[in-house]
This record gives sequence, C-alpha cells and structure tokens, in this order.
Amino acid sequence: MCGIVGYIGAKEKKNILLDGLKELEYRGYDSAGIAIIENGELKHFKAVGKLKNLRDKTKKYSSSGFGVAIGHTRWATHGKPTELNAHPHLGEYSFVVHNGIIENYQEIKNELEDVGVNFLSQTDTETIVHLFEKNNTNLNNPFHAFKKTISKLNGAYATLLITEAEPESIFFAKNGSPMLIGFNGDEIYFASSDTPIIGKATEVYYLEDGEYGYAKNGEVKLFDSIGIEKEIIKKPLATDKKMAQKDGFRFFMEKEIYEQSQVMNDCMIGRVLDNRIEFEELDSNLFRDINSIKICACGTSYHSALTGAYLLERLAKIPTQVEIASEFRYKEPLLQKDTLFITISQSGETADTLEALKMANRAGLKSLTICNVDNSSIVRESSSAILTRAGIEKGVASTKAFATQTMVLWMLTLYIAELKGNISKDRLDDELHAIRKIPKALIVTDRLHDKIHRLSKRYLHGHGFFFIGRDIFFPLALEGALKLKEISYLHAEGYPAGEMKHGPIALADSELFTIALMPKSLHYDKIKSNVEELSARDATILAISPEEFELADDFIKTKYSSHAMLEFFEMMVITQLLALEISIRLGNDVDMPRNLAKSVTVE
Ligand code: F6R
Repeated sequence: MCGIVGYIGAKEKKNILLDGLKELEYRGYDSAGIAIIENGELKHFKAVGKLKNLRDKTKKYSSSGFGVAIGHTRWATHGKPTELNAHPHLGEYSFVVHNGIIENYQEIKNELEDVGVNFLSQTDTETIVHLFEKNNTNLNNPFHAFKKTISKLNGAYATLLITEAEPESIFFAKNGSPMLIGFNGDEIYFASSDTPIIGKATEVYYLEDGEYGYAKNGEVKLFDSIGIEKEIIKKPLATDKKMAQKDGFRFFMEKEIYEQSQVMNDCMIGRVLDNRIEFEELDSNLFRDINSIKICACGTSYHSALTGAYLLERLAKIPTQVEIASEFRYKEPLLQKDTLFITISQSGETADTLEALKMANRAGLKSLTICNVDNSSIVRESSSAILTRAGIEKGVASTKAFATQTMVLWMLTLYIAELKGNISKDRLDDELHAIRKIPKALIVTDRLHDKIHRLSKRYLHGHGFFFIGRDIFFPLALEGALKLKEISYLHAEGYPAGEMKHGPIALADSELFTIALMPKSLHYDKIKSNVEELSARDATILAISPEEFELADDFIKTKYSSHAMLEFFEMMVITQLLALEISIRLGNDVDMPRNLAKSVTVE
C-alpha cells in the first residue's frame, strides 16, 4: 500500500525521505520517488522496485540548506508499476504525492485534456497537480488554487503538494486516507503513519477527514472541512517503533483484522467495474479450451480454495476440484490439459504448493496463481497471476490474506462466468451489488469487538470446539477452527454441520463448544436442525446469525442477510476476533504462535 513522507527544514532532505519511506516499506510497494525544492529549484527522482534502486539513483545527490521535500512509495492501482506512474507527479512547476483513490479523476482528466493539458501517466494522482496549476494560473495564489483543487476531488485521499510558485511551503489535505504532521522546533514532517517520523519529530497532530492547509516558516495553518481555521492540538509522539507499526493495536493480527475493510477496497480497485469484472493482468485466452479447474493450496489458502470451488461450480458452472498441495504431490494425479491449474498462496513460497505447480507445469497445464507477494517463487513459476493486494501480512495467523484470496476467487468466478456466457445479466448485477458492500461488512465496530471480548472469557476451557457450517460456511468453519487452534492451542475442528450426526456428535456434552455459523441466506433451516441436534445433547452453543436462535447459550447477531457472501465475510471477522480474544486471555503471543512459521518453505 502507498506511503507518504514530507519534510520542511534545513536538514539533509534526501535521507529524511528515504529513511522515512524505508519505515513504510512493510506495507508493500512497487515503485518509489522523491521531489525536493531547494533554493527555488525542483529536483526529483523515481525508481521502480525496491527503495535500494531509488537510493542508487540518488547516490550523487544531496541537499543542503532550507528546503521542502516530499516522497512516496507506490503500490499500483491505476496503471502499471512503471517509473512514469510512480509519484511524485509533475506538472509544469509543481509536484504531488497522493494515497487513496480519486474517484472522479477521469472526469477531471477529460476536462483538463480538453484545454490542452498533457498527461504522462495512467494514474488518478496526476490530475491533482494539473488541476492545481490550472487553478493557479487563474487565481495567482497557490493556497487558493490548492483549496479549489481539493474541493473538486471525490474519493479518498491524503496528498502533499510542493510548487516553485511558493517554494517554502508544503500544501496538504486529508480525506479518508491517513496523514499526520510531526513537529520538532522549526522542522515540520508529514507522513501517512507515525513510524517514519519517530525519533525525528517530538510532537504529532493526526489530521482528520476534510482538513487541509499549508506548512511554511516553521508554522502550520490548518483548516477544517468548511474552511474555518483550526487550532492544532499536538500530542507527544510515541518513541517505540514496533508499537507504532502496530498503529496502536496490541498485535499485528488485530491490526490486520481491522485493515480488512481497506485492503478489500485495494483488492477490488480496477477489477470491480460498473457491470462486469475486469482482470487487466489476465489474457482472456487463458480460459480458451478450459473445461475444468483444479485448485491446489495449503492451510488457510486451502480454505479459500474450498470456498472458491463452491462459487466456481455454482456461478461459473465449471467443474472444480480442490486439493491439499502436500497430498496432491504424491498421489500420482491424473492431469488433463483442459484443466486450469490454480494455486493459492499468501507468501508465494510454500514448498508443497510450489512443487504441485511445477508438476502441473511439467504436465503442460495452464496455470494461474492467486498470491499476495509479487515476484515470489510461485508467481514466477505460474503462467499468470492475480495479486491479492492485501499488503504485507505480519501475523502468522492469516486473516486479511484469506479475505482477499476469497474475494479474488469470487471476482474470478464472475469473470469466467461472463466469459463463458454462463451467468445472466441480472445475476451478475446482483453479485456485483453484493461485492461492493463487502468493505463495509468488514468494518469492525467497537460494539462487536467488546461483545466478543466479553464472551471470550467463557471459552477458555472445555474439551474442544466444533465450528460448523454448510456450503461455503463449511470452509469458513474450517478456517475459524484453524485460526483458533493456531493461536489459542485449544483443540478445534471445523465440520460440515450435516456430518456431525455421522460420528462427532458422540462428543457432545456441556463442555463441547459449538460455534454455529447460521446464515439466513443459505440453508438456514438445515443448519438450524443440525444445531438443534447438538443442543439436545447438551453441547454449549455459540450461534452466529442474523436470526435470533432460542437454543443458543451465546448469540452474536449479524447484520447482513441479503447475500451469502456478505454473511460469509461478516462471520469471518467474528471468528477471527473470537480466536484473537480467547488467545489474548490465555496469555499467548498471538503474532508468533509456538511451532509455526509465516512462510513454510520446507516440505
Ligand atoms: C494459517 C496460515 C497457514 C498458511 C499456509 C499456506 O493462518 O497462515 O495455514 O495458510 O501455511 O501458506 P501460504 O498461503 O503462504 O501458501
């Protein structure tokens, strides 16, 4: 995800920017750039790939004396990761960096092109700098021009702008994407999170949505969304970097659960269009002569694969099989060339998945990977790849990677369904309508988190957990159980609800905890009877459902009931928080559970 750093002061600016961007590296990016104005003169550098490339490019450059500087790490959304698309973006005499999405950029771009403005990049960001310069030509006042520019922008943004028209100032605005201002005497810093400025600034102000202003001569002028000047109430800045990377959360896993709403937006950008799904990275020939799909993965990624298989068969009408990679490798599988071989992996380095892919490649199958890490071994080995854009996942227990893998599979299903003419327009519209609601369904409210925190104290003992569900809620049950066992070390199993009576129900007593996923939109009556059977045998039931269930010992009421996937994602967050809260109460290191590694590169 993109990162921003800015600085006004007399120190060497290149290093402040590069060191600051380094601190944001963990969020993931594919290009970077900096721009500095010193003695009235603009200098800029950009490079694709790692920050080291930008460091190499700027080796001979150093800045001295007072100046203004902005830097950015870009994670491609509109347009490919190229130097031209990297920030800062240049107008005639100004530079801009931006995080977020300008939703009406095309409209603004068309207007500017109509009056002869030339665009160099494919980004939405470049519109900001050209619009600013056009406004400045008319108003001859950079601040008023900036104000007018941001009033035109729709969408989410955090942006910094520097201009030769006023070389001692940085103009800033924030709406929907994070940005803060750091202070240390006359020096002023900007950043999209506090890690880049820890150890540099002593005080901080976190901008609120709609705020904008400028920094000049060691002072910041701040205005609220209706243009009224505001007093800046600074706070002391934390000194612990690790704490700051967690953005105030207790664990990375917790932070990553909260991030899911945002990363889902990133995952969907440019792919969910008005009336169809688009994957710029896929060649539509990939699906020519394909009559079936085989998906291979491990652990959590395997659970997203299982979910995807339900969707692919139901909506795209394409036969789909799912295999655990470590099993697949040694079963002497029959591979046919009309099968598309899909691998799913957060890390892109899982040895079993990689080896399964190599087998499929040797057998001459077309391959596609759904992966979170570009240039990883699995991405390199696959003939095509869709990146999940979840950003770096630090918690060993996967959360946002699972969410985005499942979303990619859903989008891919609709893409194939349309390509093969297997979905009606009305059904596709319904699915797209539901997809657009997912980021909202993933927002964690204080109310929900508090409730799960309170409930969790009742689930610290017992002789085990059964997570049960039907249809797509069966893989979600598997995933809920895996999350819980990984970080709490309590025994948990995921089971298809209808299968309990074929054996596991023998375990039922009051010390058996059943987490029942009871969506309203899919087989509600069926799952209800399965849970009743367990309740009759005295099992303790925690029901998760939009519908009150009187036999539940504990109940978490969900909001959505209009589409199974909306219910799926809402319940996913609940199971993640439940695992987290139980494990924290048990005093475990949630981010680094015993015996586990984030990337499993051994067989
Ligand atoms: C569980 C978890 C693991 C991974 C598995 C595969 O929370 O993270 O089960 O899903 O090791 O890893 P990737 O997806 O990197 O191939």
